[in-house]
Amino acid sequence: MIVITGITGGIGNYLFNALLEKGETVIGTYHLAKPSGEQYKDCHSLDISDNAQVEAFVKKIGNSLKDITLINCAGITYNTFAHKSDPDEWAKVINVNLTGTFFLIRAVLPLMREQNFGRIINLSSIVASTGVIGTSAYAASKAGLNGMVKSIALENAKRSITINNINLGYFKVGMIDSVPKEQQEKIKEKIAVNEFGDPDNLLKTIQYIRETPYLTGSSIDLNGGFN
Ligand SMILES: NC(=O)c1ccc[n+]([C@@H]2O[C@H](COP(=O)([O-])OP(=O)(O)OC[C@H]3O[C@@H](n4cnc5c(N)ncnc54)[C@H](OP(=O)(O)O)[C@@H]3O)[C@@H](O)[C@H]2O)c1
Repeated sequence: MIVITGITGGIGNYLFNALLEKGETVIGTYHLAKPSGEQYKDCHSLDISDNAQVEAFVKKIGNSLKDITLINCAGITYNTFAHKSDPDEWAKVINVNLTGTFFLIRAVLPLMREQNFGRIINLSSIVASTGVIGTSAYAASKAGLNGMVKSIALENAKRSITINNINLGYFKVGMIDSVPKEQQEKIKEKIAVNEFGDPDNLLKTIQYIRETPYLTGSSIDLNGGFN
């Protein structure tokens, strides 16, 4: 059973539909607007940065959850030079990408621990290790996930619960749409395979993580050989 946040985003929407097509039971969450379509009818409204909402959501679905894979896909970015940044906007990125992701993990862990099984997968970013102009909040929020998974992996390893990040490079869908075309071409030049990632690669990596109990506390790079 899969719980996935951010299903209206480019990547979350791809994963939600692809996992359904594979015959998985998938519980999706959206944030601002419910997407239209039969497959979304049971999806839940959720702001992951609001812990009360997260706890209420997990309480509501808790009884139906078995063999849980949690995919933390919801995320935001805020592009500005540090010296020109608005501290509230900066903090919001941390509140969603790092603390909100933690709230979900924290709320789902007791169920996983009861069931002695769990897979937690966070979508992180290459930006956490490369640095990109204008992304100090985003980079910090994603870098925070790297340390977080290591501690949570240690706390839960004996319960057959794994937690890992996937450090995405630049993919064809989602946040890339906000990058100007000219800059997109420059980014592509730095990718060894010279193209943005097809989200099918992400689906395969998620499958690999789900099937590999020895893999925990890791951050896997998935970036087409970005350098
Ligand atoms: N696309 C890439 O190339 C790439 C590269 C590296 C990492 N990633 C990571 O992959 C994940 C998905 O990226 P994407 O490209 O699909 O991004 P996206 O298209 O911008 O989608 C982000 C999703 O997060 C949701 N969201 C935002 N704030 C939220 C909140 N407070 N509570 C719950 N949901 C919230 C958005 O919903 P609303 O629009 O309704 O707010 C949307 O569904 C993100 O964590 C991102 O950092 C993506």
